[in-house]
Amino acid sequence: MVRGQSNNAGHSRAAFSARDDGILAPKWSPVQSNIAKLAPEWKRILRPIDNKPLEDAMSRRYSRNIWAMVRQGPGTRFEAQRPIRGERNFMSIRSQTLLAAGAVAGVLAIAPASAQDAVKVGLILPMTGGQASTGKQIDNAVKLYMQQNGDTVAGKKIEIILKDDAAVPDNTKRLAQELIVNDKVNFIAGFGVTPAALAAAPLATQAKIPEVVMAAGTSIITERSPYIVRTSFTLAQSSTIIADWAAKNGIKKVATLTSDYAPGNDALTFFKQNFTAGGGEIVEEVKVPLANPDFAPFLQRMKDSKPDAVFVFVPAGQGGNFMKQYAERGLDKSGIKVIGPGDVMDDDLLNGMGDAALGTVTAHLYSAAHPSAANKEFVAAYKKAFGTRPGFMAVSGYDGIRLIYEALKKTGGKTDGDALIEAMKGMKWESPRGPISIDPETRDIVQNIYIRKVEKVDGELYNVEFATFEAVKDSGKTKK
Ligand code: PHB
Repeated sequence: MVRGQSNNAGHSRAAFSARDDGILAPKWSPVQSNIAKLAPEWKRILRPIDNKPLEDAMSRRYSRNIWAMVRQGPGTRFEAQRPIRGERNFMSIRSQTLLAAGAVAGVLAIAPASAQDAVKVGLILPMTGGQASTGKQIDNAVKLYMQQNGDTVAGKKIEIILKDDAAVPDNTKRLAQELIVNDKVNFIAGFGVTPAALAAAPLATQAKIPEVVMAAGTSIITERSPYIVRTSFTLAQSSTIIADWAAKNGIKKVATLTSDYAPGNDALTFFKQNFTAGGGEIVEEVKVPLANPDFAPFLQRMKDSKPDAVFVFVPAGQGGNFMKQYAERGLDKSGIKVIGPGDVMDDDLLNGMGDAALGTVTAHLYSAAHPSAANKEFVAAYKKAFGTRPGFMAVSGYDGIRLIYEALKKTGGKTDGDALIEAMKGMKWESPRGPISIDPETRDIVQNIYIRKVEKVDGELYNVEFATFEAVKDSGKTKK
């Protein structure tokens, strides 16, 4: 197995150099040189104007536009450029744009189809920055799965190419382009946050390769490309269930605190929908920034609104900080309970939260205390390998790489994207979280959602499951 990691979080002006006429021009880059290698393929792309191969008409003018398209992706705006001497100006800027878009789509479509011995998986994760705990958990889980199951499937060696996008969607897009065009990966996978998963979606569609979403949880994601399959969760799955539970269990007034981006908005919408339908009242709604949130001022407002409980959604990695500030402000002592999807009580951080977390009830897909043989084995192996307890992101990554392995087994090692997606549809297996399957219609995960309460077991804090909702589908799709 080859694992290459790079921190590609920043853009560099060094990619450009000043020409004689003072205009900044792109330097020869790996993406460009790859295009040069693929130049013979351009013969297949015909100019709409005269059906001659694009390659014959290729001039620096067009190649510059194509280069810009590859760097910046769909939506690139091209400047009108002076025709080069001797060249007939027979193409409008619009047709140049279409041609450039077609050429890039062609390059992306051709790239993964070339002969390969290894199957390459481009794993794009936040290994640095605020979401790094998600990246770490998924990277660990992928390593563990491959240690346990070997690095060869259907006669093909699996090569993981790990890239750090620091959860910045512009980085995700650039890294996905480079993985597809330069490395010719057969899958893109990972995606620590929703904006990252969405940024890669058009590239998966153009390249016709599976995008396996192992972390992000906004419902809309799987609707953005027919090549997206998800092994994580949706916020609708857990938020509707905790809302029903709260309304039926004496919680009448709730203040909400949600992270101010797509999954936070899903959590809020679906919680509100079910909680108010069950007779509950929302007394305060607060949204906190995703990056480096300071919860203290918001917690004061929460306390003043005197709710029975606060409904909290913060992404994996932020729960520890939230609970620390919740306890510092004395909300635990004032009897205001925390409820929510289980992201805030991630097993990864739970033990560090201390007794303020005791009694917290959340709904979620996974608990390290899930009482199955498969989970006991998984937790023991993960702890042995990495010294920490796995959380829900780890299990989502573990199932994500398993899905890739199983799909390859089914296609006999063939890497045609459409065949792989077909193979994934309807697949089911016993995960450490319980039974799961891939909905053949939506390509989204179908899984049990458990209601759990934080308790001390053998001196450690755990989310102890006490109710199970079986085979829950995502209820948050826009297309019904
Ligand atoms: C997301 O960005 O979709 C996301 C990230 C972390 C979570 C849940 C959702 O815990």
